[in-house]
Order: sequence, then structure tokens, then C-alpha cells
Amino acid sequence: MLRQSEKTVLFIPALGKGRKMAKVLVIGGAGYIGSHVVKALLEKGHQAAVYDNLSTGQKVNLFEQAEFIEGDILDSGLLFDTLRNGFDAVVHLAAKKAVGESMEKPNKYSINNIQGSLNILMAMAECGVRHIVFSSSAAVYGMPEYLPVDEAHPLNPINYYGFTKLEIEKFMDWYDRLKDMRYVALRYFNAVGYDSEGKIRGKEKNPQNLLPIIMETAAGVRDGMSVFGSDYDTRDGTCIRDYIHVSDLASAHVLAIEKLIEGMPSAVLNLGTGEGTSVKEMIDAAEKVTGKKLNVTYAGRRAGDPATLIASSEKARNLLGWKPQITDIEEIIRTTWNLEH
Ligand code: WQD
Repeated sequence: MLRQSEKTVLFIPALGKGRKMAKVLVIGGAGYIGSHVVKALLEKGHQAAVYDNLSTGQKVNLFEQAEFIEGDILDSGLLFDTLRNGFDAVVHLAAKKAVGESMEKPNKYSINNIQGSLNILMAMAECGVRHIVFSSSAAVYGMPEYLPVDEAHPLNPINYYGFTKLEIEKFMDWYDRLKDMRYVALRYFNAVGYDSEGKIRGKEKNPQNLLPIIMETAAGVRDGMSVFGSDYDTRDGTCIRDYIHVSDLASAHVLAIEKLIEGMPSAVLNLGTGEGTSVKEMIDAAEKVTGKKLNVTYAGRRAGDPATLIASSEKARNLLGWKPQITDIEEIIRTTWNLEH
């Protein structure tokens, strides 16, 4: 049992007139993106429960208003026992996500990502849960053939992590056809930032991505950092990515659930801002926000990095009525820096 004080208590406004409340199981809901999804669901008056094995998720990310089930997606029995309690939808974010590791330890990714997701689909089918929102990734596209990348772009993942995400999308498509299960696969571009109200306090452990590495360097947790490649064909020679705030990702999940329950057919949607920021621009903005000079070394290119990756999210905007709200890069950095000190 958790002590009361370990969980965050949210102020939840009354449900708007005429809106249907959904009961949602957020698998991976104690993690970085999952906890933001839980907060967004609760704030819109939905009922959320969290299923998480706490391998990377953290208790400090849990909310008092969301029941917590400590469990693994490899535990089919517990998934079944949980899902038979009348859920309208599942949000599935439980996965291993280190790209480099996926190439060295593919079995770990086969078991956790593919087998784990199949267990969820099978338990959902058994229990009659008909809606799932799945955390997919831009990694399903591989090297971009044109920009911005839309959902019609060829699917050629260049790492095993991306392959697992693509396979799970395909399994969901079969469960749609065979088990009448509707899904939304959300292909995130580069997720960044933290809840701007500071309600989510669990920093990711051993972060592998650019912004948390910049933050740790600014905070003195790291002595310095490397920029991987400064000779790309971009405006300043460093790689350009589409950084999307985690609270904007979260709101897309809630909209996707609401639309699925209203009867929207299954869909695959990119989530990004449509704007690109270079590594150097990110570092410059971070120095401005933090007031610290970063110890930066310009290193060689990292294998597998495209020069530029930018999303077209027109489909999400049109189908969900979604629009990212926190797009200013300094504001995004501020929401992350708040956690460091
Ligand atoms: C961003 C840019 C680096 C670290 C990855 C996965 C993707 C998705 C999100 C999901 C790149 C550069 C980074 C550093 C640097 N995963 N960089 N120095 O590679 O765009 O996307 O995370 O779960 O599938 O591939 O993100 O944050 O690693 O890198 O110069 O110390 O920053 O080369 O250009 P990436 P990233």
C-alpha cells in the first residue's frame, strides 16, 4: 500500500453536461508519458486506473484518484482479472524503448513489447474491452523519404524497437477485423517536457534523449555532453527534430478515447508540432532558460540518425480536433528545468 502522501491529489472539476465518462485502464500509467495521460483523463472527468510493473514507472507519478494495480503485461492472468472489471478502453504505453538496446537485446523487446502487447489484446478480447489507444512511434518510418512525414509514408523501421511498434500496430488491425476492436495508434515524434503545473515529479532514470541530457548537464549531474554530428545538411549542421510536449501528447490520448467511444473507426495518427528544432537551437535555448553555460563537445554522427525528422499531424488535427498548445521551445524547456532544481 502506498502512503497517502506519496500520491498526488488533483483538483478535478465536475464533468461537463452531456459528456460520457469513460473508465480507462492506463497500462504503463506510472511512466513518463502514461502519468501525463492519467492526469489528462482525470482532469476531463474520466475514471482512470493504472496498471504498471514499476520497472521504469514510479510511485511518485501516481494520483490519489486513480486506482493502482501493480502488475506486468507478461502476467496474462492478472491482465484478465483486471480487464474484466468493466473498462471502456485501454491506453497501452508499457514498453521497452531504448533504440540502441533493442538492437543488442532483441529478445527483451520481442517479449516485453510484442508478447506483452499480444497478452493485452487477448485479455481485452476475452473481457469484451473494445477500444485501445496505443503508444506507437515515428520509429516505424525509418529514414524519411520526404518531409514532413505523414501517415502514408513508407514503413521501413531501421531498428528493432521500431519494428516491434509496427508489428503491434498490425496485430491491432487484425483484432479490429476479427474481434471488432477499435484502435488508435499514436505515432509520437520526440516527446519532451513535463506537466507545467509541476504535478508530475518522477524524472526518468538514466535518460537517453537529448533534452533530459541537456538538463542533467545544466544541473551539474553530468560534466558535459556531446552533440552527435555538426555536418548535416541543415541550417546549422546539427540534426533537426519535431519536439512535442508530453501534455499535448496526453491530450491526444484522451481525445482518441473519446472519439473511439463515440464510434470513430480505427486510425493511425502522427503526433508532432510540424516545426523543427536543431540540437544546437535546443542547447542555446536551454542555456538561456537555465542561465548556465553547458560544456558541449562536438562529436561524430550517431549511426541511424536522419538529418531532419518533422511530422505532418494534419490527420490528428482533423480527426481528433487536436492542436498542440505548448510549442515554444523555451517554454517546453522551462517545464523540464522546473524538475531539476
Ligand atoms: C535527438 C537529437 C541526436 C543525445 C529517439 C528514438 C525515437 C523515439 C524518440 C521513442 C538527435 C541528438 C542526442 C545526445 C545529441 N523513441 N543528440 N546528443 O534519436 O530523434 O529519437 O527518441 O521511444 O524512436 O529514435 O531522439 O533525443 O535521442 O536525439 O546530439 O547526447 O539529439 O543525435 O539528432 P531521436 P534523441
